[in-house]
Amino acid sequence: MSTARAPIGVIGTGYVGLVTAAGFAALGSDVYCVDIDAEKVERLRRGEVPIYEPGLEALLAEHAERLHFSTDLADALQHASLLFVAVGTPPTYSGDADLTAVHAVADAIPASKDHALVMKSTVPCGTGASLRRIFNEQGKAELAYVSCPEFLKEGSAVADFMNPDRVVVGDTGDWAGDAVVELYSPLDAPLVRTDVASAEMVKLASNAFLATKISFINEIANVCEETGADVVEVARGMGLDARIGQKFLQAGIGFGGSCFPKDVDALKQLAGNSGYHFQLLNSVIEVNDLQKRRVIGKLQKHLGGLVGKRVALLGLAFKPDTDDMREASSLVLSARLHADGALVSAYDPIAEEQARKLVSGITFASSAIEAVRGADAVVLVTEWRELVDLDYSEVAAAMDGELLIDGRNALDPEAIRAAGLTYEGIGRR
Ligand code: UDX
Repeated sequence: MSTARAPIGVIGTGYVGLVTAAGFAALGSDVYCVDIDAEKVERLRRGEVPIYEPGLEALLAEHAERLHFSTDLADALQHASLLFVAVGTPPTYSGDADLTAVHAVADAIPASKDHALVMKSTVPCGTGASLRRIFNEQGKAELAYVSCPEFLKEGSAVADFMNPDRVVVGDTGDWAGDAVVELYSPLDAPLVRTDVASAEMVKLASNAFLATKISFINEIANVCEETGADVVEVARGMGLDARIGQKFLQAGIGFGGSCFPKDVDALKQLAGNSGYHFQLLNSVIEVNDLQKRRVIGKLQKHLGGLVGKRVALLGLAFKPDTDDMREASSLVLSARLHADGALVSAYDPIAEEQARKLVSGITFASSAIEAVRGADAVVLVTEWRELVDLDYSEVAAAMDGELLIDGRNALDPEAIRAAGLTYEGIGRR
C-alpha cells in the first residue's frame, strides 16, 4: 500500500505514539520515534513491543526499516517537519490533566519556521493557545502548531488508525495543517478541518458523551432490576433508533481505561476552571463509581457476609484485548472484596503482569478453571473471548458454590443456568 511519503517524528511511544508510528510507517513515511525511557527505546530497537495491542507488533516488524527509535530529539528534528506529540497527560489530584510531559516537549523544541508540533495527546481545550503564548515568550513564534486528536480504542487500535471515523485537524490554516491533512489522505476518512480550540474540544466532548451513554444505560439497568425489565432488550430496542445507535449501550460494571475516567474529569475541571459547573458530568462520574460497587451488593445478596467466602474474578483488564489496567473496574472490586474479608482469586489471559503492580491481597491463577476451583461465586469482570467461550459446566463442576455474576452481560443466561449455575447479570431478568 505504501509509497514514499513525508517523514514524521513521533514523541512518546505509548499506545497512541506506537500505533501512530506504525500506521504512518505502513502508509510509507519514515518515522523517527523519540522517548525519554532509554530502556523502552532499546527494547523497541530490538523489535520488542512493550504493550499488548493486537496487530501492533506485526505492523512494527513489517515496517521496521522505516521506524527509527531514539532518546534524542535531534534525529526527528533533522529528518521531519511534523512532530507528533503522544506523551501522557495523566490526571492530577485535582482532576485537571497533568501537562508536565507536554510542556517538556514544547520546551525542548528549538525555534524553527520549518517545524510543527502536532498534538495527539489529549489536552484541555486552551492548551494550543497557552503553548502559543509560551512559544512567543521563548522567541519561538514561528513554530507551527496543529491539534490532531486521536480517537483509537485499545484492543482495536491498529484497525482504528487505518479506518478512522474521522480525522480532526485544528490549525490556523497554514502549511502544517495542510501537511497533516496530506499525511492522512490515503485513509480517505471524513475530515474536520477547524481551529485549534474546537479540535481540542471535539476530543474531550466525544469521550465525555460516550461515557455519558454508558452511565445512562447503567442507570437504566439498575432501574430494570427494580422493575423486571431486561436491559439487553431495552438497549436493543433503543439502539435501533438511528438517533441513538446500538453502540456504547452495553450495561455493566462501569467504564475504565486510560481515557474515559480521565477525560470526563478533565472536561469537568476545565469547565469549572472557566466558571461553568458541568452538572451532568458529575453524575456520569458518580454513577460509574457506584456501578463498580454494586457487584458487592449482588454477592452479599446471595452469599450473605463475604468474610471467608471464595470469590473468583474472571478478567482484570479494563476491557478485552488489552493488558491495560488503568482505572479498571477490577481494581475497585478486588480491593472492596479483600477489605470485606473475601478470599479472592483471579485470572486474566494477558493483564496479570500489569495487575500484579496494582492489586494486592488476591491470588493469581494460571487458568480460568484454576481460578474458579472451590469458589463460592464467580464474577465475569472482563469479557475476553476466552472467558465468554468457557465450558461453564466445567466451571460449575470446579466451584463449591453456584453463583455467577456476569459483570458485562456477555453470557447467555439460559446456557449458564443449563450448566447448573445461578446467573445474575447487570439489569437482566
Ligand atoms: C476510548 C474511546 O472509545 C476512544 O475513542 C478514545 O480514543 C480513548 O478512549 P478505550 O478507552 O480504548 O477508548 O476503550 P472503549 O472501548 O471506548 O471502552 C472504554 C470503557 O467503557 C471500557 O471499560 C468498556 O468496558 C466500557 N464500555 C464500553 C461499557 O461499559 N459499555 C459500552 O457499551 C462500551
